[in-house]
Amino acid sequence: MKFENRVVIITGAARGLGQEYARQFARRGAQVVVGDIRDCAETLQVINEEGAQGVAVKSDVTSATSAAKLAEAALENFGAIDVLVNNAALYGSLTFAPFDQLSEDEWDATMSVNVKGIWQCCKAVLPAMQKRGGGSIVNISSLAATYGMPNGLHYTASKAAVIGATRGLARELGRYNIRVNAVAPNVVDTDATAEVFGDKRDKIIDVTLSQQAIRKPLKTEDIVGAVLFLSSDQSKVTTGQTIMVDGGTVFL
Ligand SMILES: NC(=O)c1ccc[n+]([C@@H]2O[C@H](COP(=O)([O-])OP(=O)(O)OC[C@H]3O[C@@H](n4cnc5c(N)ncnc54)[C@H](O)[C@@H]3O)[C@@H](O)[C@H]2O)c1
Repeated sequence: MKFENRVVIITGAARGLGQEYARQFARRGAQVVVGDIRDCAETLQVINEEGAQGVAVKSDVTSATSAAKLAEAALENFGAIDVLVNNAALYGSLTFAPFDQLSEDEWDATMSVNVKGIWQCCKAVLPAMQKRGGGSIVNISSLAATYGMPNGLHYTASKAAVIGATRGLARELGRYNIRVNAVAPNVVDTDATAEVFGDKRDKIIDVTLSQQAIRKPLKTEDIVGAVLFLSSDQSKVTTGQTIMVDGGTVFL
């Protein structure tokens, strides 16, 4: 899959999976705008090392004004928007605990970043995609949504909402030739996963593997193929779908 002359926006791209998506789009010739509340300088370097052009924008997906800056950066630097990957989320920093012990503040923050953030970014790119005659939006959900992750109801509910939002957006935006799909990964060994599981990391990865049909731990590069496919013309009549990239844990 090639992305020459394609402009891709990736949110939450300062590290982890977002940075890997940036690397792989850049490798295939895309012009990449990366956003995050963290500094994206390292990701910009990764894009440049792939020989591609990139722009980093400090942005908070929960704010319409801030999300608009991502779209503005894409248009000012590259003149169009073809792909939006809604990857930003609260995950590594969350407290995972029984549902009745979660804080209201954390519940609200999770919904705000993981769900409202997608809405804000979709609104921000819509005029440019309409003008372009189409586009592709890929929302990052999680196995948590379809499996029902225990002790993380805020995260689980937010990632299930991502699947619902994907379906609703796909219905509304099809008339503009804008496709909207989701990717739902199983546990991937990122910095955020290490933060979530702490010293229980190895045990939880063992339990996770025991439920996969393909018993291999997932790496960041294993998730990229589904994101690239849904972003490319190879999936031009696929919309509203969720692809599980989970080693065969949940079959939709
Ligand atoms: N790593 C996994 O095991 C796993 C599994 C399933 C789904 N996911 C999802 O994949 C995505 C990336 O996961 P990761 O492991 O790389 O986690 P990560 O925490 O490293 O990445 C999330 C990024 O989002 C950014 N972010 C947070 N709030 C933001 C905001 N308001 N505005 C803009 N950016 C914001 C963070 O700074 C961070 O860089 C997330 O959506 C996560 O829920 C991860």
